[in-house]
Amino acid sequence: MRESFSVRELRHTDTEALLAFETENRAWFESHIDGRAPSFYSVAGVNEHIEEYLSGFARGVWHPFVLEDSRGRVVGRANLKGIDTNAGVAEVGYRIAQSACGQGLATQALEHLIGQARTRWALTQLVAYVFPENAGSKKVLERCGFVPEHPLKRDVAAVEQRFVRGI
Ligand SMILES: CC(C)(COP(=O)(O)OP(=O)(O)OC[C@H]1O[C@@H](n2cnc3c(N)ncnc32)[C@H](O)[C@@H]1OP(=O)(O)O)[C@@H](O)C(=O)NCCC(=O)NCCS
Repeated sequence: MRESFSVRELRHTDTEALLAFETENRAWFESHIDGRAPSFYSVAGVNEHIEEYLSGFARGVWHPFVLEDSRGRVVGRANLKGIDTNAGVAEVGYRIAQSACGQGLATQALEHLIGQARTRWALTQLVAYVFPENAGSKKVLERCGFVPEHPLKRDVAAVEQRFVRGI
């Protein structure tokens, strides 16, 4: 039977689980997206990171989630970032453990973000930035209704491409 995964909000108590997830997948993430500062990879670094995200949530500019497997291990993260309720816009971001990829988790996470953007934040548009060579992420975005903003420039190397989706 296929394992089921759940999406829930990030918590203050996620330090250990998040540190394990980020450390195990560091090289994997760094091959697809910008790397984090070395000081992030410690209990103190991850604590500070979580506090920053949760204070952003309290201020209504950030909505952070984790994906968990049935044993409570963090296998992915997904965030609404830079929420601007006046403009009706936020950015989406997500990352999935290498060992959990290819099972639809990023798609599940992005659908969750779209639902939250609509029902909780009443946004009208989401944006995403992706490197052109990140074929898996582009597939997830397009499957969830995002379109590249400048399709003619999609093969420009090393420049993040902007995808947008109306809600
Ligand atoms: C990109 C990423 C989020 C995808 O996560 P995932 O859980 O595997 O995504 P899904 O399973 O929902 O869908 C991925 C799809 O892309 C496809 N895919 C993956 N790599 C691919 C590649 N190199 N070329 C073409 N298709 C690819 C998969 O086959 C799958 O399609 P399918 O369901 O039709 O088989 C994950 O690889 C990841 O976290 N990468 C590192 C961080 C990152 O890139 N984040 C996004 C920044 S914009």
